[in-house]
Amino acid sequence: MTAFDLTIIGLGYVGMPLAKEATAAGLRVAGLDVDPRKVEALNAGRSYIDDLTDADLDAMLTGGFTATLDASVLARSRTIVICVPTPLDEDHRPDLSAVEGATRTVAEHLQAGTLVVLESTTWPGTTDELARPILEQSGLVAGEDFHLAFSPERIDPGNPKFGLRNTPKVVGGFTPACKERAAAFYAQFVERVVPVSGTREAEMAKLLENTYRHVNIALVNEMAIFCDELGVNLWEAIEAASTKPFGFQKFLPGPGVGGHCIPVDPSYLSYTVRKLGYPFRFVELAQEINERMPSYVVARVQRLLNRARKPVNGSRVLLLGVTYKPDIADERETPAIPVAEALLELGADLSFCDPYVKEWAVEGTQIPREEDLAEAVAAADVVVLLQQHSAFDLDVVEERAPLVLDTRGVLATSERVERL
Ligand SMILES: NC(=O)c1ccc[n+]([C@@H]2O[C@H](COP(=O)([O-])OP(=O)(O)OC[C@H]3O[C@@H](n4cnc5c(N)ncnc54)[C@H](O)[C@@H]3O)[C@@H](O)[C@H]2O)c1
Repeated sequence: MTAFDLTIIGLGYVGMPLAKEATAAGLRVAGLDVDPRKVEALNAGRSYIDDLTDADLDAMLTGGFTATLDASVLARSRTIVICVPTPLDEDHRPDLSAVEGATRTVAEHLQAGTLVVLESTTWPGTTDELARPILEQSGLVAGEDFHLAFSPERIDPGNPKFGLRNTPKVVGGFTPACKERAAAFYAQFVERVVPVSGTREAEMAKLLENTYRHVNIALVNEMAIFCDELGVNLWEAIEAASTKPFGFQKFLPGPGVGGHCIPVDPSYLSYTVRKLGYPFRFVELAQEINERMPSYVVARVQRLLNRARKPVNGSRVLLLGVTYKPDIADERETPAIPVAEALLELGADLSFCDPYVKEWAVEGTQIPREEDLAEAVAAADVVVLLQQHSAFDLDVVEERAPLVLDTRGVLATSERVERL
């Protein structure tokens, strides 16, 4: 029976980069998931993660990495890291069912001396109040028989500069010994480990980071709306403010927030605060503003077409870039969906162009994909630049499009090109 240095539960955007770095550092790594298609793809050398090439995966498999559906690997692992999803449920409340499920599976196989780390983003208190009691159903006691820690994942998919290795890793333990064990574990493949005194501080650090981003994006989004009415070029004002070498960080407006983290994580924090009997007003306001951006984008498209004496109904609207981030294929929570829904509702003749997305359906309607950017841009009544993939030839868009709404501030403005 093979023994493993590490078993990672949840082989997604977070779990796989961790598996890659740990394997490269010489650890023997197993990956446990509940999705047979993912396990099969990984063992066959086929990656489904943007930041993991098939060649990376080949090197991992050669280095001993194995993906499995069989939870018995947990009993043979010195360290177990849980990286399962933490979405919101239909009522916008934290849905921790995957964390509970994975933790229960760990409890069934837990051995004395194991280090268990939760990496999934969640409300402060989860490791201690939710994971620990489940793990202790094994009969083993946290801090005495096994070590327990929380370490938030900070992975930024598609970021060419910062990956797991060179992004400092915050670690909080249930006890000081748990913290030290977890810090030593990550130090094997992360350049800088940042220990904090407890699991709650580590959980809160992650929520603070993403809430900070969410709130600041909302700030510039709200400013974009009134700057348009005031006749002020916000993009230029932001660039000017960014020359201040201290006390200012640049955030840009856009068509809304997307991805698995920014629209979701602040709700985990407001959920926790609501339990105290009052709201977390910053988060709730930011949510309201950011969620309204797609309909604001549609109102601006309507206004552009109106100037050309055209109704949205029947107009050819081309959406450029439908993923939530540039240069990756991830479509989760992308604001392109609510933008497209509203345009379809108004009767727009919609198409899209995105080198990363081969097929795109909105509310069950298959949106035609344009292969040739130059032709598509010229044939559209209006082009909406939602995502600035670097593969897009922006000169072509500026020169050929009859009308453009640039929601990313990357095109030169003109009679035909307007920024958000
Ligand atoms: N994606 C990011 O950029 C990012 C960044 C930082 C933090 N996070 C956080 O990391 C966590 C994981 O996110 P992700 O993006 O990797 O998710 P993901 O959906 O890409 O992957 C999660 C994997 O977990 C598996 N899974 C679900 N329940 C399971 C169970 N009970 N047992 C075993 N496997 C199970 C799923 O099949 C899936 O393969 C979330 O809490 C997220 O908020 C994500």
